[in-house]
Order: sequence, then C-alpha cells, then structure tokens
Amino acid sequence: MNSVGILMEAISSQSLDTIKTGLIWLLRAAWIAGILPVLIASLPSPRLNPFHSLLLGFAKRGKIMPSSSNRFTVPQSFFLHFYVLGVVWTTALLMGIWYFAYKVAPLSSESLSYVAAATHLTGGSHVFSLHKSRFTSAEDRFNVWKSVFLLLLMEIHVLRRLYETFHVFNYSSSARMHIFGYLTGVYFYTAAPLSLCTFCALEAFNFAADQVAEFKVEGQEMLSITDFDLWGYVKPITRLGWCQWAGAAIFSWGWFHQFCCHAILGSLRERGDRTAEYVIPRGDWFEIVSSPHYLAEIIIYAGLLVASGGTDLTTWLLLGFVVANLAFAAAETHRWYLKKFEDYPHNRWAILPFVY
Ligand SMILES: NC(=O)c1ccc[n+]([C@@H]2O[C@H](COP(=O)([O-])OP(=O)(O)OC[C@H]3O[C@@H](n4cnc5c(N)ncnc54)[C@H](OP(=O)(O)O)[C@@H]3O)[C@@H](O)[C@H]2O)c1
Repeated sequence: MNSVGILMEAISSQSLDTIKTGLIWLLRAAWIAGILPVLIASLPSPRLNPFHSLLLGFAKRGKIMPSSSNRFTVPQSFFLHFYVLGVVWTTALLMGIWYFAYKVAPLSSESLSYVAAATHLTGGSHVFSLHKSRFTSAEDRFNVWKSVFLLLLMEIHVLRRLYETFHVFNYSSSARMHIFGYLTGVYFYTAAPLSLCTFCALEAFNFAADQVAEFKVEGQEMLSITDFDLWGYVKPITRLGWCQWAGAAIFSWGWFHQFCCHAILGSLRERGDRTAEYVIPRGDWFEIVSSPHYLAEIIIYAGLLVASGGTDLTTWLLLGFVVANLAFAAAETHRWYLKKFEDYPHNRWAILPFVY
C-alpha cells in the first residue's frame, strides 16, 4: 500500500473510532435516562407521589390503564410494530456482522490463511486490509464472534415474540398504551440489538458498504470467492467459551417459561375474542408471581448479559433498563390483581419470588 493509502487508512480508522465512541455513549446515556426516572419514582417518599403518578401514566398499558384515559394513546396491539422492527433490524445486524466475522475475524488458524488468500484474490485491496487490520488480536476476533452469538439469541427472542403477537395473544380492542410507552418500545427494539454488538457494528456496516462498492467493480470475480461455506460460518460459534453457553442456558430457561406464560395468557380468551375480560391466570410461574412473563423477560436479558461476559457497561445498562421498566409495571399489575379479585392468591409476589 502506498503512503496515500496508509494516510487514508489512518484517517478513516480515526473517524470510525470517534463515531463509535459517540454511539456507545449515546446508547449508554439513553439507557440511563430510561432507568433514572423509574428509580427516583420508586423511592419511598410521599413528596415523590406526583412524579410516580406521572411516570405511571406513561408506563401503563392494557388492563392497568383505565379505559377512560384515551388521550395520547395507541392500541396495545401496536406491540406488533416493536417485533416487526425488532426482527427486521436484528436480522440485518446479524447477517451483516456474521458475514463480517467470517471474512475479517476468523477464529481458527486455517481461517486465518483463508483471509490471507482472500486478500490476495481481491488484489490485497485497501478496503480489505483496512478492516482486517482492526481485528488482529485473538481477543478482538473472539469478541466479533461473541456479537454474532448475542444477536443470534436476540433473533430467537424477537422471532418468537412476533409469532406470539400474531398467533398467541388476543389483544382486546379496548387495550391501549400511552404514546410515550409506544415510542419507548420503538426505541428499545432499535437500541437493544445495537447495544449487543457495538464492538463491531460500525466496522461491519462500513465493510458491507465497501463490499457492495467492490462488487460493483469486480462483480463475477468476487462471486467466485464468496461461495457459501456453511460450516465456516457455524464452526467459530461452536468454539466460543463457557460463559457464552452458560448465558445461552439462562436465556433458554427464561425464553421457555415466557413462552409457557404467554400461552397461558393467550388461552384465557377464546381465539379472536377481543373483549376486555380478565381472569386470574394459573399455572407455571403464575403460581408464584403476578407477572411471570416480565420475570422471564428479565432472565432472558440476564442470560444475554452472562453470554456477553459481563464486561461491557452498555449491556449492563440494557439489563438495568429492562429490570426497572418491568418491575415498575409489575408492581402496578400486582396492585391491580389484588384490587380486582377478592380471591386473588395472597402468596403471589409481584415479580421476584420472596423479594418483591
Ligand atoms: N423488554 C422490555 O422492556 C419490555 C417492555 C414491555 C413488555 N415486554 C414484554 O412483552 C410481553 C407482553 O407485555 P405486556 O405488558 O403487553 O403484557 P400484558 O399486559 O400482560 O398483556 C399480554 C396479553 O395478555 C392479556 N392478559 C393479560 N392479563 C390477562 C388476564 N388476567 N386475563 C386475560 N387476559 C390477560 C392482555 O390482554 P389485553 O389485550 O386486554 O391487555 C394481552 O393480550 C411480556 O412478556 C413483556 O415481558 C418487554
């Protein structure tokens, strides 16, 4: 590479780092902005009651939102938008980063020689060597594949939620949520998948853009080296560490129980029945807490945190947001059940058995 190439590489590398740092701190600031008001509103001080009520007004949905408060609300069935967005965005990130990992961050030594060969085939292009040079250490390459793994788990989660929105839940026609809650949901399903892959998302995006540009120039020649190699894409995932598999096990535990609890909620009404009739749910974790589907959601994100290795503040804040948001809604749901049903089982906790 000539000196102009080296200079260009240094400039692109530096501006990419600046944008990346900005993006990471933006995400962190947004998660903190979501957590703090809930923490403040939950402090046991009568002076904070007006703030608590205000926040609750934004957070209420479905059965805990009075049918009279229709201002600034949208149907609760708009949850569908979250999962369509979640599936489209997570799939795009997953595909882009998986391809990037395969091409630029091989985990094994034979794949390393593959990269060398590929660089040779593409004429040792500036673009390829720029990306390759950013992930040279074994730790960096491991972290790229870890991002692929986290996005795979997220994909499994949002795909099921999309399926359930269509085929399991029977949203009542009167169930609403505040527009603020709706916008928070849209933000959540944009920022959550991104928070799982900030380590390499920008590089992968840049790489994809460069690949498209190169493809336009080299076309057929590139096609010959991009023959699909399924095992090459899967094998590095099987080489991840115990932390990733322990996280996946915790994730699966929460995922399975959320599936069961959603099936129970969905079965409380006839298929297609959209009347707002509520009964006491029974079975699975409903026997111990009032909002087991929220508890399961927290376990799902705790699993993602363990699978991430727990070293990234952004993933901790993502879990913090999920806990704060759902514990707040669960407390109100518990109060609602106790008020609505005289025979509501008093041994049930709101969300966390023996604690809350
Ligand atoms: N990651 C996050 O930050 C986050 C935030 C929000 C939600 N979520 C997840 O999204 C999922 C759905 O949350 P949600 O708040 O929409 O749940 P929800 O209010 O419990 O409602 C789910 C469905 O079950 C119905 N339902 C609830 N309780 C019922 C009862 N006692 N009798 C009959 N039907 C009942 C609801 O009816 P109506 O249509 O009449 O309300 C609705 O169709 C949860 O698993 C939650 O964890 C995640």
